[in-house]
Amino acid sequence: RIKVSQGVPDQESDSADLRKVEDWLQPFRLSREKLREVSARLRRDLIRGLGKHTHHRAPVKMLPTFVRATPDGTEKGDFLALDLGGTNFRVLHVRVVEDQQKVLKMDSKICAIPQEIMLGPGEQLFDHIAACLSEFLESLGLKGLTLPLGFTFSFPCEQKDIDKSILIRWTKGFNCSGVEGEDVVGLLREAIHRRGDYDIGPVAMVNDTVGTMMSCGYRDRSCEIGMIIGTGTNACYMEEIKNVKRVEGEDGRMCINTEWGGFGDDGSLKDIQTEFDVEVDRKSLNPGVHAFEKMISGMYLGEVVRLVLIKLAQEKMLFGGETSEALLTPDKFETRYISEIEEDATGLDRALEILSELGLPAGQEDCEIVHLVCSTISTRSSELCAAALATIANRIRSNRGLDHLHTTVGVDGTVYKKHPKFSQRLHAALRILAPKCEISFLVSEDGSGKGAAMVTAVAQRLAAQSRL
Ligand code: GLC
Repeated sequence: RIKVSQGVPDQESDSADLRKVEDWLQPFRLSREKLREVSARLRRDLIRGLGKHTHHRAPVKMLPTFVRATPDGTEKGDFLALDLGGTNFRVLHVRVVEDQQKVLKMDSKICAIPQEIMLGPGEQLFDHIAACLSEFLESLGLKGLTLPLGFTFSFPCEQKDIDKSILIRWTKGFNCSGVEGEDVVGLLREAIHRRGDYDIGPVAMVNDTVGTMMSCGYRDRSCEIGMIIGTGTNACYMEEIKNVKRVEGEDGRMCINTEWGGFGDDGSLKDIQTEFDVEVDRKSLNPGVHAFEKMISGMYLGEVVRLVLIKLAQEKMLFGGETSEALLTPDKFETRYISEIEEDATGLDRALEILSELGLPAGQEDCEIVHLVCSTISTRSSELCAAALATIANRIRSNRGLDHLHTTVGVDGTVYKKHPKFSQRLHAALRILAPKCEISFLVSEDGSGKGAAMVTAVAQRLAAQSRL
């Protein structure tokens, strides 16, 4: 049994190897100054993304969502929700109760999406979605109803309206042909009509960040930012409409889906990308796309660690210079291992188990080195998120001409929720990078399900009001 040292085995350790690895990992450590620079670069990119003539080529897309209001508490009704683009594909039946100011999840079902569907023709993907929804409605006896539907579709979409949403490009693990450039609502409706056994009412298209913001907005009216740090990473916030140059109007606000995952796609983060980030990008489904996301989110963190471990072994600083077949296999070092290894009380024991499962000859010192690699790479991720969030909070503050801003971020995603130190590190860095903003965090309860229903409910309320 390995003795667990108190806290992180860091600089205090007198092991020469550990110190050598410390030095070697230096390119992953970002100084306060560098983080400030990154935040300033993103600030410039947010403005480019909002501009009428600059948004076409902007790496940070700043997509209008047509969500103009957060919940006011009068919303109500029954809704269906679909959630595609996170860890699982889900279908849900959700009830918004007016008097109790509550969103209730009535039922839900997870449907697996096999890899060949994730990478196959788009028609097959939408047929699969329509079939899952059909089974779900059948099992609940809801087929005869035509319920409004909130579709959490967590990919960058150019929205023309709340129910017209054109996929710009796939990200994360999806790459279905014939969907990019198409209206996703149209593809869903066509698939449902091909079946002909049920129908749906009005549809609202929702990015997961927006669903997250809206599901928290119900509990906390000052929730004006939504953030995801899960399979992918992204954030949305309420921007002044007069600054959203491609949407008409001067008054009020609109939620903007920043798609901050694309930050750096024009090369602006080259100075902080390591050779390992370049390699992860090169081997990904979408090379050249979503540079920032690939340094931060769950789909990629394990890969960055794996590549670093291979290199350390090759340089004879780890595992006595040996690798194993598993370590050399893409995606074998899962991101959840990082969370497990960084647990204070159990992490080093768990490291030993994981390394032996991966067929690696590991002793106590190897486990400490692997722990150091994990914590260095996950710290970089949390601090980069803090830099980006600081940019958004500072923007809201200056938009409103405030010296101090109090605001709430609705947040979701496996990395934020499951990693034992991620949120703490993110909050600490944010206090330094946005000292004039007092930011609370609310972990969203099922933003992609309940939040999507909420967006649909708010859209219906606004539509009803405008008919009066
Ligand atoms: C990816 C998607 C984005 C989504 C994020 C989190 O970055 O492009 O739309 O919000 O992942 O799921």
